[in-house]
Amino acid sequence: MEQKQFFTEKPRILIVDDELGPRESLRMILKPYYEVYTAKDGISALEAIKKNPIDLVTLDLRMPGMPGEEVLKHIKNFDPTIEVIIITGYGTLQSAVEAIKYKVFDYILKPFNVSDILSVVKKCIGRRYVSGEIKNVLEKTKRDTKSHSEIYEQITHFLNQLNESCYYFFRRENYLEFVRVLATTLESKDPYTVGHSERVCHYSSLIAEGLGLSPDEKEKLQISAYLHDIGKIGISDIYISKDGPLDENEWAIVREHPIKGIKIISPLGLSSEVIEGIKYHHERFDGKGYPEGLSGKNIPLFARIIAIADAYDALTIGRPYKSPLSKNEALLEIKKCAGSQFDEELVEVFIEEIKKNDREINQMH
Ligand SMILES: [Fe+2]
Repeated sequence: MEQKQFFTEKPRILIVDDELGPRESLRMILKPYYEVYTAKDGISALEAIKKNPIDLVTLDLRMPGMPGEEVLKHIKNFDPTIEVIIITGYGTLQSAVEAIKYKVFDYILKPFNVSDILSVVKKCIGRRYVSGEIKNVLEKTKRDTKSHSEIYEQITHFLNQLNESCYYFFRRENYLEFVRVLATTLESKDPYTVGHSERVCHYSSLIAEGLGLSPDEKEKLQISAYLHDIGKIGISDIYISKDGPLDENEWAIVREHPIKGIKIISPLGLSSEVIEGIKYHHERFDGKGYPEGLSGKNIPLFARIIAIADAYDALTIGRPYKSPLSKNEALLEIKKCAGSQFDEELVEVFIEEIKKNDREINQMH
């Protein structure tokens, strides 16, 4: 199978299920492509993990003896990089959804659908491969060099090389997953940016929802949102997370990140809308932004959306030198800047969608 060219060996999967039927059928489905191990309870699953380097565990939640949730905790304690997919019936769906919060990749509902299983497993193995590779590159460059421009070059080189393989793992439908892994792995080194791209993506999607964008446009916007600050890896942390306002020279360096960003992702061959979202996310509606000082609707739509999402996240999360605002305070602040910093119409859509989202969450509780 093609996957072999990216792993030196076949990826290893451990199937944990107390029932012989589902355990064997999963084994038969996965065996042609992966090296498969099986365990019939939590204790033997943990033993298997200690004996063999496992990439992915498929875990049944309802088992006699050690419950699935407990097994999950032990697996993650032993090695947090092992991916876990929960296998569940409708009865335990709620706990599966809960488990996703604890770094579970996804869940599969019983009875199995072969193509669903193969696609989830492939996506998951792909994520493990890409995040592992990105981490390797980051660690290696950190060990060998101190300069951000060198890290930047290494990552660009890596993306150039990866393009072929990521296309295999992340064909069109999974491309979003790829950029998600890329962005979150890169930002994980800075406590102030952890989760930033994920949240900017979420807020951007809310605006997309309000505007009624098509699924295709929405996905492009999400990719753009995930990658909007990717250029920051080419800029020293001294400026990015400085404990205080930046001086003129420092600002000039930070302002290079949108352009650095589009250069870094150029090997990925992304669409022009995605690229424009990254390049212009610091433009202002009144024309006082950067890099080109575009104004009004001349600023591409994705960039106008990401600008609002980005600012809202910065306001609600805070910065080393700025304490976070409450949701309402942040919305007021955004509203104040409608027409100057942001597109007025989009601000309205955003506020409406945030409120709608809150109502839906409240109804769920
Ligand atoms: Fe930015």
